[in-house]
Order: sequence, then C-alpha cells, then structure tokens
Amino acid sequence: MERGESLKLNTALCGILEITYPIIQAGMAGGPTTPDLVAHVSNAGGLGTLGAAYLKPDDMRSAIRKIKDKTEHPFAVNIFCTEWDDRYDGVEDSQKVLNAIRKTLNIGHVTEPIKTADFFEEQFEIMLEENVPIISTAFGVLPKDKVSLLKKRKIKITAMVTTVREALIAEENGADIIIAQGSDAGGHRGTFQIEPESNGALIGTFSLVPQVVDSVSVPVVAAGGIMDSRGLVAALALGAQGVQMGTAFLTTVESGAHPAYKQALIHSNEESTVITKAFSGRPARGIKNEFIKAYDVSGISPADFPTQNTLTGDIRRKAAEQNNPEYLSLWAGQGTRLLRNSPSAADLIKELVTGAEQILSKND
Ligand SMILES: Cc1cc2nc3c(=O)[nH]c(=O)nc-3n(C[C@H](O)[C@H](O)[C@H](O)COP(=O)(O)O)c2cc1C
Repeated sequence: MERGESLKLNTALCGILEITYPIIQAGMAGGPTTPDLVAHVSNAGGLGTLGAAYLKPDDMRSAIRKIKDKTEHPFAVNIFCTEWDDRYDGVEDSQKVLNAIRKTLNIGHVTEPIKTADFFEEQFEIMLEENVPIISTAFGVLPKDKVSLLKKRKIKITAMVTTVREALIAEENGADIIIAQGSDAGGHRGTFQIEPESNGALIGTFSLVPQVVDSVSVPVVAAGGIMDSRGLVAALALGAQGVQMGTAFLTTVESGAHPAYKQALIHSNEESTVITKAFSGRPARGIKNEFIKAYDVSGISPADFPTQNTLTGDIRRKAAEQNNPEYLSLWAGQGTRLLRNSPSAADLIKELVTGAEQILSKND
C-alpha cells in the first residue's frame, strides 16, 4: 500500500493467493487443522492451511485429498524446514523429569533411545504429486533446488520469519510471501537465525511488521495476537497485506484441538502464556501448566528439538486420553481473552470481514 492510499481488504496478497479475504488460517501441526477446518476457511474466502509437519506421508496425502474433496479453493500445506536429526544431548536428564510425570499419569518409565522419523523428503514429494497450490514453511527456508521446482510449477511459497534479517534471507531464497511472526504469537517461535539456547527473537507484532514491510518487496502478512477485526485492520495499517491467525481458529467447531485444550484456552487470558522449550526442545508460546512447571522446578533443560518432541509424545497422548490439560501442550498466543467459544470457521471469517469493513468505512 502506498502512503496516503486508503486501506482496503482486497490487497495484492488476495490476487497472488487467489483468495477473497486477506486472512490465512495458520497451519498448526499436531491435530488442530483438520481437513474440515482448512476447507471451511478456504470456502469462506480465506486461506486454510494444513499443519502437516508431524504427519506421516500416508496421513498427509489422505488429509490433502480430504481437503480437495471439500473445497475447490486454494489451500496451503505447512511444513518445517529444519534438521530432523536425532540429538541425544541431555536426553538422560530430561527423562528424569519425564519419568516423574509418567509416574503421575500411570505410564511406564522410558529408558531406551527414542528415534525421530524424518519425513521431509517424502512430504515434499507428496505436495508436488498432489499439486498443493501453496506451500507454507516455518523454522527456516526451503533448499534452493526445491524452490526452483516449485517456481517451475507456479506453486507459491510463504515463509515465516521473526526478524528483518530472516525476512531478507527468505525473500532472497524465493519466498512469494513473508509471514512476520511477532512474539505475541501462539505455538513455536519461527526463529531460525538466533542461537538455540535463546527463546528465539522476541519482537512484538507491532514492532516487527512495519520494519519487515519496509525491508522487503514481497507482500508481508502479520502474525501474532491477531484475534478480531481490530487486529486485522491494525495489521493493514502497519503495511501488512493480510494476517495469519492461529489461536483464534483453535476454538472453532472444526478445530481438532482436544476439548480440554479448548476449555483451557477459553479460561485463559493475556497473562496465562509463557515461552517454553519443555514440550519440543524449541521455544514455543503456550498456557503455563504442570508440565512446564515440572521443568522449571527441576532446573533440568529439555533435550533438543526434535528429540524432546518425540520424548514427550507418550505423555501428551496419555494426557489427552485422560482429559488432563496439565500435561498437554496448550499452545496459545497472547490474545486469548478475545477468543470466541465455538464459532464456525466461516462465522469467524465473516465477523472479521464485516467488522473490518465497518472500521474501514468509518474512516473513508
Ligand atoms: C496450536 C498452534 C500450533 C502451531 N503450529 C504451527 C506450525 O505447525 N507451523 C507454523 O508455521 N506455525 C505454527 N504455529 C504458529 C502460527 O503460524 C502463527 O504464527 C501464530 O498462530 C500466530 O499467533 P496467534 O496464535 O496469536 O494467532 C502454531 C500456532 C499455534 C497456536
């Protein structure tokens, strides 16, 4: 948008992604982004995204096919561009904390090494075979040869960044759209250029977005703490061409988030979340619960990503079975007081759009 031009919802991003409204539902790995959610968002004029990073290849293909059965509109598939090597430093110590938790949940102790499967190459092949129109990436950028392949096939790439430095790397690497993720955001920090010991770059959405907008020439999408039409319009005012929202979609009817997780979200507020590596080994924002406290109290560091994520899988599965939110990863952004209880995804999009149009028309 040029300075002085009036704000509008139909940004250039909509043309590039062939969507009606500049609203991207974030890919959220681990189950929330059911094919129903993705398809309903796309059918409502936004861009639905399947969070596929942890999906086994066959499950990924079947989810993509289900989405295609439910929508003719574009959708995206999100994957992680990171090393999936097993990293065993600190596993023994981390298991001490986890075994104490396992005892509380009546699960057997685990002592044997844990292997993490790396599905990246197969996932990439499936996205090509299934002609996925938009590939959404986090935790780094795609290898150059893969970017060339996507360009030849006119498949669009979105890349999530948390600093201007990362935005410049993503643009240079061929991203068509940059997702600027502020520190308010729920889920993993997308940071890929800062030492792993840290909690990632912690630049708030309001500070990050205009600085990224001024630094790159591709469209920028704002992510982090955007929950309603005010957030959408604010993002546009900061120079973003759209928003990527995760937390707001978690409590929709179509979301696959566990009911105990949805309840925890509804009862949380802007003070509830912390950034922790306890669940996966990578910093991520979620509602503080007993699992996170157990690591804080122990003084023991979690193992590295992805090993810690694999190590904690049995606990998260058991907690889900037991409807126990204290040992689930309750990823959430800082805007949870603004959450709606069980809207349909289509209603959420409609409200965002209607509200934004009202705000924008007042300022014409
Ligand atoms: C439950 C949850 C899971 C997430 N998983 C992913 C993921 O797999 N890939 C990704 O690129 N971003 C993921 N994110 C981050 C989103 O892309 C986005 O940056 C974030 O949701 C924006 O902040 P908000 O939650 O306040 O809307 C996740 C966010 C949440 C809340």
